[in-house]
Amino acid sequence: MKRKWEDSPMMRAARCQETKSVPVWLMRQAGRYMPEYQAIREHVSFMELCKTPELAAEVMLTAVQRLNVDAAIIFSDILLILEPMGFELEFEPDGGPKIGNPIRNSSAVKMVRELESVEPLEFVMNTIRCTRERLDDSLPLIGFAGAPFTLAAYAIEGGSSHHFRQVKTFMHIYPNEWQEMMQKFAVSTARYLNSQINAGVQIVQLFDSWAGCLSGEDYKKYVKPYSRMLIDLIVPGTPIIHFAPGNPVLLTDIRDAGGHVIGIDWRITVQQAWEVIGSNYAVQGNLDPAILLTNRDLIRQSVLHILRQVERRPGFIFNLGHGIMPQTPVENAIALVNAVHEFGIVR
Ligand code: CP3
Repeated sequence: MKRKWEDSPMMRAARCQETKSVPVWLMRQAGRYMPEYQAIREHVSFMELCKTPELAAEVMLTAVQRLNVDAAIIFSDILLILEPMGFELEFEPDGGPKIGNPIRNSSAVKMVRELESVEPLEFVMNTIRCTRERLDDSLPLIGFAGAPFTLAAYAIEGGSSHHFRQVKTFMHIYPNEWQEMMQKFAVSTARYLNSQINAGVQIVQLFDSWAGCLSGEDYKKYVKPYSRMLIDLIVPGTPIIHFAPGNPVLLTDIRDAGGHVIGIDWRITVQQAWEVIGSNYAVQGNLDPAILLTNRDLIRQSVLHILRQVERRPGFIFNLGHGIMPQTPVENAIALVNAVHEFGIVR
């Protein structure tokens, strides 16, 4: 039986097919900017929330209803895979991640465990089943994972970083150990994403949030082969969104590493991105999340500005260029979604 989500604007756009309206969802659509989320977080830590499927599903479904977006994403985090791979993961009270045992020398790579079974992450599959069961049939559910470079950056830096000094030093000084570690992340993440697909997601997004800190040459040499290895291991048939923001110079290599939809941020226009990537790829993006801190009029103008570049071209998914900031007023996020629905009717 054909499910209703198969013909939804989000799925059609991901396959570069024509749609009646431009689909929109927002990265981090469930999170600290929402009072309903904060109320739940008063009683439950972020990690507990991720490991309690009914609550995780609840948080995402509330956000989807409140915003009226065209897709749901599972409520989880890209770093959870690090635990079964041998890392001590914690989220500090301000939300920032911390790794208790980061990799600080080449021999520590031996300690990284390839994820042979997804059993320790079964709570994520339960979140998927729970969310899919309660989500409207017309909306697709997105699964996700961190790409090898972004996972390696956290594993080596031990937390968020500005300059990525340690991960960059490591990859240049220890190319063999780097290769060994990146292969472990690639294979493990592919296994994880394939299980998410089995559990019921319709689309997957690969977050390479920090790859933009690299030069084109370093991306080609130290990152691209492993993102490609991962994407090649994903069972065909599920659209893949490849999101590696921050550095438009990397776009052709990001495209060549794989994925059907290329995520872009505000550092490049939609039109320019399409010229670079080619029209047989779908594009997702690219409003600067800072615009959501302004006002309704500016938000509407910015939406119109982006949609004018898209015109009627099939294969566009409206999103932000990065996650919603915690300071965002909820009514501004709602105004954004409404504006996309109003101006994005394809006649
Ligand atoms: O999009 C969604 O609403 C789904 C859930 C989701 C979260 N994290 C929930 C979360 C997704 C898709 C992510 C991905 C993620 N996690 C990325 C890639 C996207 C990006 O922002 O580039 C990264 C780098 C992480 C790692 C991470 N997790 C950081 C850096 C932080 C702290 C800072 C921050 O932005 O909040 C987290 C915590 C986190 N992940 C929270 C949420 C709702 C906040 C936790 C809290 O304090 O309640």
